[in-house]
Amino acid sequence: MILFGVGGVGRALIRQIVQNRAYHAAEYGLEISILAVCDREGAVVALQGGLDDVTLLDVVEFKARRRRLSDHSQGGPQQDLAAVVDIASRPGTLLVDCTATEETVPVLTQALAQGHRVVLANKKPLTGAQEVYNRLTRAGATGSQPAARSWSASRWEATCGAGLPVMATLNRLQASGDPIERIAGAFSGTLGFVMSGLQAGQPFSAVVREAHRLGYTEPDPRDDLGGVDVARKALILARGLGWQLELADVAVTSLYPAALAELSVAEFLAALPALDDHFAEQVAAAAAQNQVLRYVARVAAGTCQVGPQAVPAASPLGQLSGADNLVEFHTRWYQPTPLVIQGRGAGADATAAGVLSDIVELAFYR
Ligand SMILES: NC(=O)c1ccc[n+]([C@@H]2O[C@H](COP(=O)([O-])OP(=O)(O)OC[C@H]3O[C@@H](n4cnc5c(N)ncnc54)[C@H](OP(=O)(O)O)[C@@H]3O)[C@@H](O)[C@H]2O)c1
Repeated sequence: MILFGVGGVGRALIRQIVQNRAYHAAEYGLEISILAVCDREGAVVALQGGLDDVTLLDVVEFKARRRRLSDHSQGGPQQDLAAVVDIASRPGTLLVDCTATEETVPVLTQALAQGHRVVLANKKPLTGAQEVYNRLTRAGATGSQPAARSWSASRWEATCGAGLPVMATLNRLQASGDPIERIAGAFSGTLGFVMSGLQAGQPFSAVVREAHRLGYTEPDPRDDLGGVDVARKALILARGLGWQLELADVAVTSLYPAALAELSVAEFLAALPALDDHFAEQVAAAAAQNQVLRYVARVAAGTCQVGPQAVPAASPLGQLSGADNLVEFHTRWYQPTPLVIQGRGAGADATAAGVLSDIVELAFYR
């Protein structure tokens, strides 16, 4: 495999591959060779065979110190990921995208066309144009018309719910022909924390400031509160159902008004108390109906909506508290009680574990 991105997830993935070498060999007869690792500006490429574990763990430690691979003793500059793939790949090499950029799309699509395979933790390539999604997820797709579903060329479990088997479950339900009537999910630990705080009676401003202080939010909390990351996950689920939708088709309700978009982070945090009454009223109105407020991605009837929604307090989503992710699949066979998946939906190690499972699965489709 060739790894793009050596941030938190990429580093955890390398560590887990090294730690599991003996296990994968014994249980699966599998040896995962890392042929190259790339960051934004550099790469470390194996001259022969795969990179040895001493070098790999050194790269992990080097990147944890925020160094650039172009400055690594065995590294060099890279301006073009496709050139790295040309040099390092063998037939059927897996390209593992642990970056957070759409810049990887050309190399990923080109590599698939050359017979390589792809594993993504990165949502952006799957949430751009539908045509690109088709090329990345359905081997043989060429234009806007998707080809048949394929198991052999790509996996993207970690794009939705980190290591939770969300895409695997969706794919299995699809394979059995069980019609999925609707999917409802909480896909943001940060927004889960905010919603739990509101339910406990905290003012919106206080719970957002606390999440920011604890480092649960992005440095600019609007990156979480705006809901776009959740919208990307909803779109990946909807496209997984075979629907043809663009990100612009996802109706997103942000937790802050557009008027606060241009403020500095400090000004934004200072302006939040103006929203407290609005959220307290919504929480009270929901409670009067035996409901609670959750930040929900809803995929149903050909549409995707993302935003604060009142859900029955007794439902799986209603009983969720804290930062876990939770997904309900409502299908013909899973009703009135939905099929539910719940657990940690973020974190470098849990995400890397999802990526590693994809790698092991794809290895059997050689
Ligand atoms: N962390 C989580 O909990 C979680 C959960 C689910 C999914 N994910 C997804 O997993 C991916 C990785 O997350 P992360 O937390 O590891 O991100 P991160 O720490 O920001 O690391 C991103 C890595 O990608 C590299 N990169 C960026 N642009 C690149 C380019 N054009 N070519 C090659 N490398 C490039 C960066 O290089 P430099 O080191 O040179 O900057 C960095 O090594 C993201 O897409 C994220 O959304 C993360």
